[in-house]
Amino acid sequence: MYGVKMKGIGKAIPEFKLSNHDLAEFIDTSDEWIQTRTGISSRHISTGETTTDLAVLAGQSALIDGDIEPEEIDLVIVATVTPDSTMPSTACAAAKRMGIKKATCFDLSAACSGFIFASEIAVSFIRQGNYKKALVIGAEVFSKVLNWEDRSTCVLFADGAGAAVYTRSEQDQILNIVTASDGEGSDLITLPVLTKSNRFNPNEVSEAYMYMDGREVYKFATTEVPKNILDVLEGTNYAANDIDWFILHQANARIMDSIAKKLQVDKEKFFKNMDSHGNTSAASIPMALADVKEQFKPGDKIILSGFGAGLTWGSIFMIW
Ligand code: UT7
Repeated sequence: MYGVKMKGIGKAIPEFKLSNHDLAEFIDTSDEWIQTRTGISSRHISTGETTTDLAVLAGQSALIDGDIEPEEIDLVIVATVTPDSTMPSTACAAAKRMGIKKATCFDLSAACSGFIFASEIAVSFIRQGNYKKALVIGAEVFSKVLNWEDRSTCVLFADGAGAAVYTRSEQDQILNIVTASDGEGSDLITLPVLTKSNRFNPNEVSEAYMYMDGREVYKFATTEVPKNILDVLEGTNYAANDIDWFILHQANARIMDSIAKKLQVDKEKFFKNMDSHGNTSAASIPMALADVKEQFKPGDKIILSGFGAGLTWGSIFMIW
């Protein structure tokens, strides 16, 4: 078994910034409602940038940050629920543009837990010796699946990509990973796939917008995530209060404050960037890592935690 560490982090966002005030010009909402309920004040929205474009830019900046050549990467996983195509995978299309050749490339669908699930696979494969350097990317263009007349979702979700490289390491810095799913909650956040009728099947899905039962998902997140964080710490000789940084999926500032309270941890240890980025689903954790990494000190204890559609959730406990 090999040790593993995270080495190299990057992010990419579309240029266009959409504020709460801009939204209030075309739907029945307000800056005050969005800020107080979610902690979001603006987000970046694609005006043409594709999921692959953002994945490539985030991946390249992670490689530069980690001082890693594209040819060294032997595994690429892109976590996304908003790919440009289901064939080829975003990972294959992005790898080509990054100059990554002969790596094993595939996409993974676990919504807002996607980066954690993809990281678990990458870390496990490196541990076993199958691969040496894995590029894990979370990339979403959520704006293309939002109903821009549905104020319960379109003020929340946004576009972006984040990436991290995992490599073999003499010292093991990934101390534990715990993930889980519960299909009983599969109708709480949904996004159908467009399908055309054909000669044999008259059924057609002509609208494919995302839907979310926000209140139920809020209850799920504030119940399961604190338990999952305690699970990932179990058997490691560390308690929640020993952790220096909590980098959670950036869905809602109130969710983070509630989790901090349940864990009896100072809420300032929970890094937040949803204020300027909104909820970017699978991209939000690596994007947050990219924004906070300069503040990490060697030896810092970090929890990454994602939760979302499926229902899915999971946490990683790592040392910087
Ligand atoms: O990323 C995947 C995981 N997702 C999450 O973790 C999201 C979890 N859920 C949440 O973060 C919160 O439930 C929301 C931010 C989505 C909603 O906040 P809430 O405090 O749960 O609001 P609510 O859905 O209970 O709605 C309260 C009121 C409703 O009006 P009434 O029925 O009380 O008259 C809504 O119609 O707020 C209304 N409302 C809005 N008002 C202004 C809903 N959306 C808006 C809006 N602007 N954009």
